[in-house]
Amino acid sequence: MILERNNLHNFSQTTTELSVILGNKDVAQIKELMDYYQLCRAATNEFGTKLENLDAEYSLNYDYNPIHHMEERLKDVHSLIEKLDRKGYPRTFASIKDHIFDIGGIRVVCNYLDDVYTVADALSKQNDVTLIRAKDYIKHPKASGYRSLHLVVSVPVFRSTGPVATPVEIQLRTVGMDMWSSLEHRLRYKTDVPADEVAKYGQQLHSYADELNNIEGNMQRIFKKLQEPRK
Ligand code: GTP
Ligand code: MG
Repeated sequence: MILERNNLHNFSQTTTELSVILGNKDVAQIKELMDYYQLCRAATNEFGTKLENLDAEYSLNYDYNPIHHMEERLKDVHSLIEKLDRKGYPRTFASIKDHIFDIGGIRVVCNYLDDVYTVADALSKQNDVTLIRAKDYIKHPKASGYRSLHLVVSVPVFRSTGPVATPVEIQLRTVGMDMWSSLEHRLRYKTDVPADEVAKYGQQLHSYADELNNIEGNMQRIFKKLQEPRK
């Protein structure tokens, strides 16, 4: 299992983008935000290590890896500003700190459904981790059919001045849910697809989400049978 670190930020590029978007007027705020991005990067690294360690422990003790793979990213400046605007929050550092918890994000793709909850529980109960928010779109799928477990968790980042609790969003899902959401995301964000096709494919994808859920449940049952000791 490999933690891919393929979308981490170039800070000088981010600063340049921010000064263009926010206007050059508030250099102090941009510095604060860059400092916050560094905290988010550090917290994301902390969680990446925690998750890798959990996976390695399972592998040693149970000869089995709950995590298929992980992806890590820092939210780019354009999506940060787009999210503030969409949710009606002011474009200020204070509102980013108060309302945006997914600057650092890790997607954890698990082999089976039970693994999603095993990993989420093992992570949330570590005593330096605080669970800030959980949205269970597996128990309650979105209208599109989207399934995943979203957690916002924080961990202290140890700075030279002391610890700073910093939030990261962790999206946990199965391989099937991940495959589904990549295709559905493409349908949703490709603007040149005619509306009637979007509706048709959206409906098909909704039913495939349910089918995948059944198939993954059945495969997990076979897997569990194979794990049981032979009599
Ligand atoms: P945003 O991140 O800005 O959307 O707001 P939020 O964090 O309040 O919302 P939410 O907890 O629903 O998580 C949003 C993230 O989940 C998105 O960025 C996507 O990665 C994913 N997501 C949510 N709903 C869907 C969906 O219907 N389809 C797909 N493909 N992904 C979704
Ligand atoms: Mg989000």
